Parts: sequence; C-alpha cells; structure tokens
Amino acid sequence: MSQPTQAVIFDLDGVLTDTAELHYQSWQWLMDEMGIPFDRQRNEALRGLSRTESLETILGDKSSEFTAEQKAEIARRKNDDYLSRAMKMTPADLLPGAGELLNELRRRGILIAVASSSRNAEAVLDRLQIRPLLDVLVDGNDVPNSKPNPRVFLEAAERLGVPPARCVVVEDAASGVAAARAAGMRVVGIGPAERVGRAHRIKPAIADLPADELLELPEA
Ligand code: BG6
Ligand code: MG
Repeated sequence: MSQPTQAVIFDLDGVLTDTAELHYQSWQWLMDEMGIPFDRQRNEALRGLSRTESLETILGDKSSEFTAEQKAEIARRKNDDYLSRAMKMTPADLLPGAGELLNELRRRGILIAVASSSRNAEAVLDRLQIRPLLDVLVDGNDVPNSKPNPRVFLEAAERLGVPPARCVVVEDAASGVAAARAAGMRVVGIGPAERVGRAHRIKPAIADLPADELLELPEA
C-alpha cells in the first residue's frame, strides 16, 4: 500500500492547458519555412523537452550544419511565434476539468505544484489566472536539465516540503513520465498508451481523472 498522498505535481503544457498544440504549431510553421521535415508524429517526442533540446531533436543529423548563433536565432523565432499565440489565451483555455480538480485538491488540503520544462510557464499561468491555486512553481528557468531528468519534480517536492513517495505527478509526455518515475513518484499519464504507457495509470484527458482516484493511486 502506498503512503497517503500529500501533494500533486502537475505538468503544465498539454495537461492543464493545450499549449502543447501551440508549441507544435510554432515548430511546424518554422520548419516549413526552413524546409526541414517535421510533422505531428515527430512532435510527440518533443513533449517535455526544453526549447534547445527540442530543436536538437528536430535537427538530428543536420545539427552540425548550424552554428550556435543560428540555432539560438531559430529558437528565438520559435519562441516569439509561440508567445504570439500563447499570450492570446484566457482562463477559458484551461482544459475541461482542470480548474475543478485544482479547486477540489485545495479544498482537501492537498499541496499543489506545477513542474514544467517551459521558460514561459509563469506567463501562461498568468494568462490562465491559476497562479493563486498553486503552492509552488518550478520551471525551465529554475532547472537547467529538462525531463526525463527528475530534477524538476524533486525540486518541486523539496520546495513543498513533501517526500517524493507522497507526491503524485500528472504528465502528458513520455519524458515526463520517465522523470516522475526516476524521482520515485507515482504518475498518471494523460494521453495515448503509446506515449504515456509507463505511467501507473493512464487517462485520455484530465477531465477523466477524479480527485479520489488521483489521491488513492497505488504503486505499480
Ligand atoms: C514543455 C513542452 O512544457 O516546455 C515542450 O512540453 C516545450 O514542448 C518546453 O518545448 C519548453 O518550452 P518553452 O516555453 O521554454 O519554449
Ligand atoms: Mg506537457
């Protein structure tokens, strides 16, 4: 039997809001312009990776054809485009069930963190107006190694003052599920089994995740 859950650590992009789609659209626009092959399937592998690691993954063997300055410029253009999309968001862009789940967890006295590889997490949370519902935010500005490195989740647990075994993570990325497991945490995967199959439980969307089930998640 697992220890009782004291904290839930949410990934942001693709879990609380559909910014995963906006990240995809920005990469697709830029790669089309540059004539570099890219599509939705290749994009799946980028979930949870930092901006720089995403670009390296897209370029693959072609990486050495670009200078560090050129890569920084590509990453800057991608981010400008992403922000032009993301900064139009409103609280209505919270995914169905996300606000209700956050409020229910707070009502039960469960601590809540967001742990994201993104360096735009704070701006996105502000657009969604859910910053006051969180006890802790750890993002790509705090932690240099992005998922699957467990550091972002361990840092969130440490700041919450909760041992990893008493934290449950909610993630939509294969890299995020791996990071949560490496941190010694239970994890609910949001999305298809091909992507989040290593999670302790799999749900199609956050709307399908009742607070009771989340808090009573046994270890695999
Ligand atoms: C993660 C997303 O949350 O943040 C990735 O899943 C994204 O797709 C990464 O690349 C970095 O985001 P940003 O906003 O710093 O470019
Ligand atoms: Mg995500």
